[in-house]
Amino acid sequence: MEVTGEPLRHPLAQKFLAALEHSRKDGYVVTQPAGLTMPRGFLADAGRILDFPVRPDDVWVVSFPKSGTTWTQEMVWLLMNDLDFRTARQVCLPERSPFLEYSALVPEEGKAGIADTIELAQRMTSPRLIKSHLPPALLPKQLWTIKPKVIYVARNPKDAATSFYYHIRLMYDLKLPLEEYYDAFLANVVYYTPYWTNVLEFWKIRHESNILWNTYEEMKKDLRAVIRKTATFLGRIVTDEEVERLEEHLSFSSMRQNPATNYDGLVQRLRSTTGLPPVPQDLAFMREGEVGASRQRMSPEMDRRFDRWIQDNIRGTGYDGPI
Ligand code: A3P
Repeated sequence: MEVTGEPLRHPLAQKFLAALEHSRKDGYVVTQPAGLTMPRGFLADAGRILDFPVRPDDVWVVSFPKSGTTWTQEMVWLLMNDLDFRTARQVCLPERSPFLEYSALVPEEGKAGIADTIELAQRMTSPRLIKSHLPPALLPKQLWTIKPKVIYVARNPKDAATSFYYHIRLMYDLKLPLEEYYDAFLANVVYYTPYWTNVLEFWKIRHESNILWNTYEEMKKDLRAVIRKTATFLGRIVTDEEVERLEEHLSFSSMRQNPATNYDGLVQRLRSTTGLPPVPQDLAFMREGEVGASRQRMSPEMDRRFDRWIQDNIRGTGYDGPI
């Protein structure tokens, strides 16, 4: 099966692309299968991703962007590696846990400065911890036959969308007011949208024995419980003391201070290879780390639009994840 893409022709797409510092001359496409909005360059790697060899002892962390992926990866990596806090502090997380399709997203001008992440993931020694933001139809086919452990992390769409706005500004200097970005998000012209394709597809398969469904909101409310639940899923036994140490290591302030999990340095390098000015003072990878704060940034009208859009998308699905 081949992944194809139709050019994204929505009027808001032009506005969104024009507001990116990198002109993305190749534009965005809507993929078939999955109907996912992605930079055209993704198509060149989509086949390699579908055919990516999966191993039974892999662990995959999958999410819609900005849903607490890094937080989850750090927790899972430590659980998989006998709580090796030393290595976790010394080796940056993307090296310990590669982001499968990352190099397929980087604009042409930045490609020279980064490794081919698909190849990197392929060469890693087992057991691997691999991150992806792709929906099921675009993930490696062998995930559905070999069935390694997959941890999905969901976050309410208002916070995920808002966090993504600051992320795109951080990475690619998006010059679009927040409210106009929300229009683009709801119209599925932001890359990795539609949000619901990702979340609902995993919601449907959440009870399969190799899938664990976690949420950002649960992690904020009771991180210890999520650590224990995830450890059980991974077949690891953790003592109370270990849970406490993990909780401390995984706190927002520790992860922000830790250069291995705070990607500001990596972002800075990417920005300089792609000719962008240094990161503006008001932007950071570890930004806010809160639940529900995005509503204060939305106009009441936008908040209502999000609510209607949420209801329209979950009607009849039985979805009771974070909204
Ligand atoms: P905000 O931008 O809302 O602050 P991802 O890793 O999927 O890109 O998600 C990033 C989001 O998770 C950001 O959200 C980031 O601040 C938040 N995050 C990362 N580590 C966290 C932690 N230890 N505690 C709480 N939130 C965290």
